[in-house]
Amino acid sequence: MDDGSIDVKRAAREAIYAMPLADINPVDPAPFQDGTWEIYFERLRAEDPVHWAVSEEVDVGGYWSLTRWDDIMAVDTDHATFSSEPAIVLPDPAEDFTLPMFIAMDPPKHDRQRKTVSPVVAPPNLAKLEPLIRERCGVILDALPIGEEFDWVDRVSIELTTQMLATLFDFPWEDRRKLTRWSDVATASPESGIFSSTDPEIAENERRAELFECVDYFMRLWNERVNAPPAGDLISMLAHGESTRDMDRMEYLGNLILLIVGGNDTTRNTISGSVLALHQNPDQDKKLRENPELIPSMVSETIRWQTPLAYMRRRATRDIELGGKTIKAGDKVAMWYVSGNRDESVIDRPNDYIIDRERVRQHLSFGFGIHRCVGNRLAELQLKIIWEEILKRFPKIEVVGPPTRVLSSFVKGYEKLPVVIPTRL
Ligand code: HEM
Repeated sequence: MDDGSIDVKRAAREAIYAMPLADINPVDPAPFQDGTWEIYFERLRAEDPVHWAVSEEVDVGGYWSLTRWDDIMAVDTDHATFSSEPAIVLPDPAEDFTLPMFIAMDPPKHDRQRKTVSPVVAPPNLAKLEPLIRERCGVILDALPIGEEFDWVDRVSIELTTQMLATLFDFPWEDRRKLTRWSDVATASPESGIFSSTDPEIAENERRAELFECVDYFMRLWNERVNAPPAGDLISMLAHGESTRDMDRMEYLGNLILLIVGGNDTTRNTISGSVLALHQNPDQDKKLRENPELIPSMVSETIRWQTPLAYMRRRATRDIELGGKTIKAGDKVAMWYVSGNRDESVIDRPNDYIIDRERVRQHLSFGFGIHRCVGNRLAELQLKIIWEEILKRFPKIEVVGPPTRVLSSFVKGYEKLPVVIPTRL
């Protein structure tokens, strides 16, 4: 929508406001690709903030959508009433392909596994990583063509976040693009076009085959590290951790996918989002270039504006009233962070991108409660450094065509972003 004309936007708004409320089905990915999602959520926040919909997808079925800030916060911080098991996305896991991972576990197992991996993203390790990230950002940026169109997603966002992930895993460097592929495969829908067929059954079989290749590859690394003294990388931490060393193959794969997707897609899409948002808001771009000390604030504003994960799902463990509706024990509940981040009762001018807004860190993009993103400081650090290095080199990054958006209502991001850098400083 942010690429469309005013007439197109007006027509879309009229059509969405004319729909019966019951037909609004937020899990449908199409509005995230055509940009109309903002209008659907604006209407739900105003008219039906605790909204029931039934999806035609059999593995989704009926689910509640929470779209207001306060309701999302109430659910995210009450893990006893709202369980994260068995999944944090609306489709239920296939019975013959369940991947346990700690984001989709409740205490006490969740807490123990989270504790095992969190040192890798704790402040002492981040301080060690900072010079490495800066050096790599420099190498990536210095290799970009000047005055020539290229894809920012591939050349910068993917490259930087994949290098970071390879470092966290101590993963063989030359194979690091495998991590990008596994990340895409893990979250892709059959219609995404990344498999040889869009037939759901064929695509799902291919997806599973590639994920098995992923776990086989990582199993070799596990076997090497389990017999070596404990080290600071994620695989060694999992192999030696008391709560993770006895994981079976599927649980190892599940936690790998969590760390790969968590550390890759989200940060990648925020980096691309920052370039797009600054291009669409030249006054903010100017403000940033004149006041580089605004970089950390711009990073937080981009994380809110982008909301790289649109929602997290929970399951009610008992009947509970919310917004005048009764959520029954067993019902699925989606917390639409993407909508809470646009809630006009909490955030001033929420649809605008304002890099120096007050309380800029006040957003839902990292969640709240016991599952709050463990990698948030690392994500912010990577974004801060890439922008410090961009400002040293390039007076302008021009977006020269519409971005290609990911077809997903969960991962909110970009497949391609064509840009030109006209000159170097
Ligand atoms: C801008 C970037 C990022 C965003 C927007 C983001 C978003 C989120 C969200 C929404 C959650 C769930 C919160 C909840 O349920 O309350 C989460 C959890 C998690 N994130 Fe991130 N994330 C980002 C970067 C990262 C990075 C860089 C890593 C890893 C290095 C990471 C690893 C994780 C893990 C392991 C969890 C599960 C935590 C738990 O269940 O206790 N994330 N993230």
